[in-house]
Amino acid sequence: IKKIAVLTSGGDSPGMNAAIRSVVRTCAYHDVECIGIYQGYQGMIDDEFTALDARSVKGIINKGGTFLKSARSQEFRTKEGREKAHKNLLKHNIDALVVIGGDGSFTGGLVFNQEFGFPVIGIPGTIDNDIYGTTHTLGFDTALNTVVDAIDKIRDTASSHNRLFFIEVMGRDVGHIALNAGIAGGAEEILIPEEDLGLDRLVDSLNKSRKSGKTSSIVVVAEGDKIGKNIFELKEYVDQNMEGYDVRVSVLGHMQRGGAPSCFDRVLASRMGVKAVESLLEGKTNYMVGLLDSKMELTPLEKAIKGKTKINLELLRVSDIMTT
Ligand code: F6P
Repeated sequence: IKKIAVLTSGGDSPGMNAAIRSVVRTCAYHDVECIGIYQGYQGMIDDEFTALDARSVKGIINKGGTFLKSARSQEFRTKEGREKAHKNLLKHNIDALVVIGGDGSFTGGLVFNQEFGFPVIGIPGTIDNDIYGTTHTLGFDTALNTVVDAIDKIRDTASSHNRLFFIEVMGRDVGHIALNAGIAGGAEEILIPEEDLGLDRLVDSLNKSRKSGKTSSIVVVAEGDKIGKNIFELKEYVDQNMEGYDVRVSVLGHMQRGGAPSCFDRVLASRMGVKAVESLLEGKTNYMVGLLDSKMELTPLEKAIKGKTKINLELLRVSDIMTT
C-alpha cells in the first residue's frame, strides 16, 4: 500500500479533525502518501481530492467539526455513483480508504468493498455512541461534557424559578448521551428509548420528589424516546397532570455536535488513526477500529454495522438510585 485516502462522512463529531490528523501523520511516519477527500463519499464521486502531508494537519487537533467537510451522499447509494467514485480512486492511484463516520458511512464502505474489492477501514465517529465494537465513539465524550455543562446552566435557572425542565438531548434512537449526561447532571428523571417508564409512572415519580421537598427538577429526554410523541406533548401532559411546577422545554440540538474535542476524544482519535493505517498496512480490510477493554481492537465492519450497542444496566441502576 503506497497511497491511502481518508474521508469523513455522516453527521460530524468532535474529534474527527484529530482523527484525520492522526491518519495523515501515521501515513507520513510509514512513508505512505495520504489524500484527503472533501465532502465524504460525494467528494469521491465529484473528484474533490487533496494531497495531505504531516504539515497540512497542523493546528487542528483542538478544532471541532471536520475540515474535510462531511455529507450524506444520495448518489453514493447508486451503483453509478459508486462506479464514478471507484474510477476516481483508481485515477489517483489510491490503494486503500479510511472512512471516519457512523454506521451509514460504514455500510457505504462495505458495499464499495464488496463491489470493487477496495480495501476499507472504519473509524467510528459519532456523538451517539451507537456503534458496536467500541465502548466509545469519537465525539461521545465531548458531547457528554457539552450536555452536562448545559444541564448545569439550566439547573441554575430552574432552581431560581422553581421550574421543571425537560431537556432533550441527541442520540437518534439510543439513550447513551441521555443516561450518562443525566447521571452527571443530577437529573431527577432520565427517559431513554431502551427503557419505557410510562407517562403515569413519570408523573407519579415527579410528584413524589416534589412532595419530598424538591423545588425544581430536570428531566433529561433522549430524542429517540417514545414516551410522548415529542417532547412538547410530553410537557403538555405533565403540565396538565401535576401541580406545583412551572414547566419548560429546552432542546439542546446541534450545539451538542460542536466544540473543541475533549482530551479523551483527542487521545482516542490519535490512537484510532494509528491503528487504522497500520491495520491497512498489515493487509487488513473491512474492519472498524474500536476501543475495547482500554485496547485498540478490530471488529469486522459487517458486525459493527449490524451489532446493537446495549445500554449499560449498571448505569441504569445507578441512575435509578440517584434519582430516588
Ligand atoms: O447521528 C448524529 C446525530 O447528531 C443524531 O444524534 C441526530 O439524531 C442526527 O445526527 C441529526 O442529524 P442532522 O444533522 O441531519 O439533523
